[in-house]
Amino acid sequence: MIFAAILAGGVGSRMNIADMPKQFLPLKAKPIIIHTLEKFILNDRFDKIYIGVHPNWLLYMKDLLKKYNLQIEKIKILPGGLDRTETILNIIKEIKADVGGTNLSEHILVTHDSVRPFVTSRIINDNIDAASRFGACNTVVQAIDTIVVSEDADTVKSIPLRSLMYLGQTPQSFNLELIIKLYDSISESDKATLTDACKVCVLKNIPVKLVRGEYSNFKITTITDYKMAQSMLGGLGVD
Ligand code: CTP
Repeated sequence: MIFAAILAGGVGSRMNIADMPKQFLPLKAKPIIIHTLEKFILNDRFDKIYIGVHPNWLLYMKDLLKKYNLQIEKIKILPGGLDRTETILNIIKEIKADVGGTNLSEHILVTHDSVRPFVTSRIINDNIDAASRFGACNTVVQAIDTIVVSEDADTVKSIPLRSLMYLGQTPQSFNLELIIKLYDSISESDKATLTDACKVCVLKNIPVKLVRGEYSNFKITTITDYKMAQSMLGGLGVD
């Protein structure tokens, strides 16, 4: 089976413009998370879509599904965790309970940030295909700007060759059995340092296939990103 994990457990502290997490802010006529969710609902390869939501916003999310007529059986809302990794782990735990004794290696997990509403069906399909074939994949775009490394936030340490540099996006997708084994194999302190699900593969020398992303599949993190997202949809700017 193929499962989607929509990560919406954050509060959007870097956005800092509203008293609600950024995934619930409006983007033209609908909240950001509804745009994102619709991309996954439209893809009929998914058996179930799990949404990990900040515990204080579970009822709000439920009401949104009602408001946008998305109360469909294959969507399940559950509490997110204290960090992004914990949200993924909560969703994995729920999936494990739902699939019971089936062979976990037969399932694919596609994880996606709720605040990347411009993900395309091509990217989602490429993720499902790559995770099925290779076990793990990461959506990336080539770095346009030169990447500069600084260890003290004051001086340049190194400037890696730009042609080797990529920017990680989501989805990141995995064979379910593989990702469970990898998370089980690392210490709690290593787990706490993971900001990226693919990093657990890298830590354990498991190859991760690259899937071509799109520059438009950016993560809405700051107010500038939010304004850019609004203008991409031809909506009004936010001041
Ligand atoms: N996320 C999550 N659970 C958490 C923290 C983050 O599911 N405990 C999700 C966010 O909701 C978001 C995605 O991970 O969809 C990417 O994270 P980020 O942009 O860092 O979101 P926030 O943590 O909300 O933002 P900030 O770091 O500015 O507070």
